[in-house]
Amino acid sequence: MAARSGHGHAVAGVKLNLPVYLNGQLLPREQACLPITDRGLLFGDSVYEVIPVFSGAAFCLQQHLDRLQRSLDAIGLPNPLSRSAWLEAIASLYQPGEASDLAIYVQVTRGAYPTRAHRIPQETNPNVIAFASPLPARDPDRANRGLRAITQADIRWHRCDIKSTNLLPNVLAQSEAQHQQAEDVIFIRDGRAMEGTSSNLFIVLDGLLLTPPKSGEILPGITRELVLDLARDAAIAHAEAAIDVTELERAEEIWLTSSTREIVSVVQLNGKPVGEGKPGPHWQRMDQLYQAAKERNRIKALSGKVE
Ligand code: PDD
Repeated sequence: MAARSGHGHAVAGVKLNLPVYLNGQLLPREQACLPITDRGLLFGDSVYEVIPVFSGAAFCLQQHLDRLQRSLDAIGLPNPLSRSAWLEAIASLYQPGEASDLAIYVQVTRGAYPTRAHRIPQETNPNVIAFASPLPARDPDRANRGLRAITQADIRWHRCDIKSTNLLPNVLAQSEAQHQQAEDVIFIRDGRAMEGTSSNLFIVLDGLLLTPPKSGEILPGITRELVLDLARDAAIAHAEAAIDVTELERAEEIWLTSSTREIVSVVQLNGKPVGEGKPGPHWQRMDQLYQAAKERNRIKALSGKVE
């Protein structure tokens, strides 16, 4: 049972001393430890989620917990917590209605065992960790500036639909982006644009909003799904279809979407301007729809209608 306690103090928008959740307990961060033989550490044998909390309201929480279940199923790891226990654990990490935004990280590892062996032990004893980190408040000026991206070969495996902690290719790609004064990488596999290092990809091509279809080559993003829903509701022409590199290169607009970065516009790709080199009108519209969805969620959460 997670006890609600010590939420720390906000200093200039940065929260200090947020407690962390470890296997049913809330602990000060420095006391939350796992054995060095944990399979998450030794083999990357673990899955995770990142759930945004905007103005004290968790956003798309059930969808994140559904995806966590799918990741656990895909690696054959029974879910150690019931849905209500997950909700309780996550709720213990933030105050409803608090002003600042947070990202809640949750990870389930297959646990620690006396010997290091690749084979999965018959009886598993998973470890569950969760903690909140401050999320920078949305900055409209920054959003309106967009970001620079580069393309790179996708060297990841063919189960990118599992939200596993094996993120070395993503980490190295981010590093290369930084090296080239860019903020993200769009992965290219077999001549097709897939997704960012921690985001899904949308383009606007000849006025049509496109995103790659779900497959083992991309993560089925929660924000991606929401953007598709918002496009449907607003009758914005859209399709889930493979995106060739050549289409990426001539797109009027390119967006990257994720729970922590929302919808960001890519204004420069491999050093060349995308469209007019600034966030385009489709992005402006979708960003407004997305911000309105956040606000609806906040109002619902405050009136107690949401988990
Ligand atoms: N990453 N693709 C990849 C490879 C990702 O890692 C993520 C999210 C997404 C977007 O998914 P969602 O909209 O559900 O956040 C797509 C999280 C934020 C992370 O690793 O921090």
